[in-house]
Amino acid sequence: MEIRIFDTQPQLNQAFTDWLKEIACNKDCVNIALSGGSTPKSLFDEWSMNHRDDIDWDRIRFFWGDERCVPPDDEQSNYRMTREHLFDKLSIPENHIFRIHGEDDPDAEAQRYAEVLRNELPIVAGVPVFDVVMLGIGDDGHTASIFPDQLSLWNNDQLCVVGTHPQSGQKRVSLTGKVINHARYVALLVTGENKAEKVVEIIENPQEAAKKYPAAQVQPESGNLVWFLDRTAAQKLTKQ
Ligand code: 6PG
Repeated sequence: MEIRIFDTQPQLNQAFTDWLKEIACNKDCVNIALSGGSTPKSLFDEWSMNHRDDIDWDRIRFFWGDERCVPPDDEQSNYRMTREHLFDKLSIPENHIFRIHGEDDPDAEAQRYAEVLRNELPIVAGVPVFDVVMLGIGDDGHTASIFPDQLSLWNNDQLCVVGTHPQSGQKRVSLTGKVINHARYVALLVTGENKAEKVVEIIENPQEAAKKYPAAQVQPESGNLVWFLDRTAAQKLTKQ
């Protein structure tokens, strides 16, 4: 596990971009599962404004770690956010975008998306392998759309499950730990002081945290886990 701390989000975004380019440099095709929420917005803006030409976007195929069960033009849609901040600006080819159909029945979509992963990704030991899974952490310790009150979903035998947001009741389709921890590389992008409590619990008391928080269960078999933190999210860490 590697922990990288940055003074500002632009510096974090640049470092994550350099990290991704390094991973992509010797691969004809990179399969990445994107995170949603607000953290990735500035990263996608950075890519569309400053990396139009130094990243071969035609070699990257975009999937998601989770999606809200809303239509693709809903303001809550992770796909819509990504389309507005990235795809529309970089003219990413449609056949490189594998969105989760938030508009469809959640259980049926979880099954369908699992099939998409089986058909589109390399399979190792029976499980689809992403090159990169990008994740955020909620201030309750969730990641993707596996929430603390449904921790058992993380170890579900399926590739994709239906999670439920504990406050809003919103249904979401999410990858499980089976896929996330099978990725070649996993990056946790965490900013904001509201995440500082969970960051220090997960990093400095991982065994206890793993009993409570899905984000603490992010332990890729490859060992390639990198935390990209800003100073505010890292502020409670005792070793910086
Ligand atoms: C989502 C995300 C979710 C997100 C965290 C952090 O669909 O909301 O995939 O797991 O990464 O909730 O969200 P913020 O970046 O908005 O803090």
